[in-house]
Amino acid sequence: MSQTTMPLAGKVALITGGSRGIGAAICKRLASSGANIVLTYANSAESANNVVQACQSHKVSAKAIQADVGNVEANRKVVEQVVQDSGQIDILVNNAAIFPVIDLFEVTEKDFDESLNINQRGVFFLTQAAAKHMPKGGRIINIGSIFGESVPYPNLSLYSMTKFAVAGLTRAWARDLAARGITVNCIQPGPIHTDLNPEDGELAKVLLPRSPVGRYGRVEEIAEMVAYLVGPNTDNVTGAIINNDGGWNA
Ligand SMILES: NC(=O)c1ccc[n+]([C@@H]2O[C@H](COP(=O)([O-])OP(=O)(O)OC[C@H]3O[C@@H](n4cnc5c(N)ncnc54)[C@H](OP(=O)(O)O)[C@@H]3O)[C@@H](O)[C@H]2O)c1
Repeated sequence: MSQTTMPLAGKVALITGGSRGIGAAICKRLASSGANIVLTYANSAESANNVVQACQSHKVSAKAIQADVGNVEANRKVVEQVVQDSGQIDILVNNAAIFPVIDLFEVTEKDFDESLNINQRGVFFLTQAAAKHMPKGGRIINIGSIFGESVPYPNLSLYSMTKFAVAGLTRAWARDLAARGITVNCIQPGPIHTDLNPEDGELAKVLLPRSPVGRYGRVEEIAEMVAYLVGPNTDNVTGAIINNDGGWNA
């Protein structure tokens, strides 16, 4: 296969939350471009194995590791294992997250800590550990949210707190890692049809009427944007926050 059809041949990509939804689509899309895939998941071993098999059908290596992204030590072990197996990490996609929607006055410290641990602390320390092993040309993609740019209705304080942070970290790390030749970019999806936010769910009744394009996005549309940003011709794109939201935050 030529570099054009397999632009990620030989690269090693680590994707958090690759067992379902957007993360699963990213794994399959990067595998289709030749990347070897390591995905993490929390609970869904069967779904994770299905994604691994789908990736392997593209003749790349693929592996699933059960690891709570909110656990800093577990993240370090994942990185150690990938480096031990593959020697380096070329691509990191910080995708796994939870979506707390809780009334301000109902938020407990447990809710706060869980949101912070999974959506923010995990992103921070996994990136810190992985970036040490990234060669020149490394790529980091953070999956944020349009609710990390605007807060269009109540009860999003925990989620928006973490997703604003993800956008901020993207900018900060673009500065920190530029000298190493590593780019850091953030994709902010709008409503995307997944288990987290099904297009026929209760939330859709609130979200859809505000969508300029009048539809939910597809996981493949996010995966395609990731594939572009981690590709070989985007060395000059870093610190970018790119919405893929059907105009939701326009
Ligand atoms: N869907 C949307 O409308 C939307 C919009 C904006 C932004 N996003 C963002 O897009 C990303 C993916 O969302 P999604 O809709 O694909 O979510 P999803 O369908 O709920 O899938 C979440 C994935 O993350 C994994 N995960 C959850 N908690 C984890 C933990 N503590 N440790 C390791 N893995 C964990 C899950 O693993 P298990 O299968 O084991 O549970 C699963 O693979 C998130 O960052 C989300 O905030 C989504």
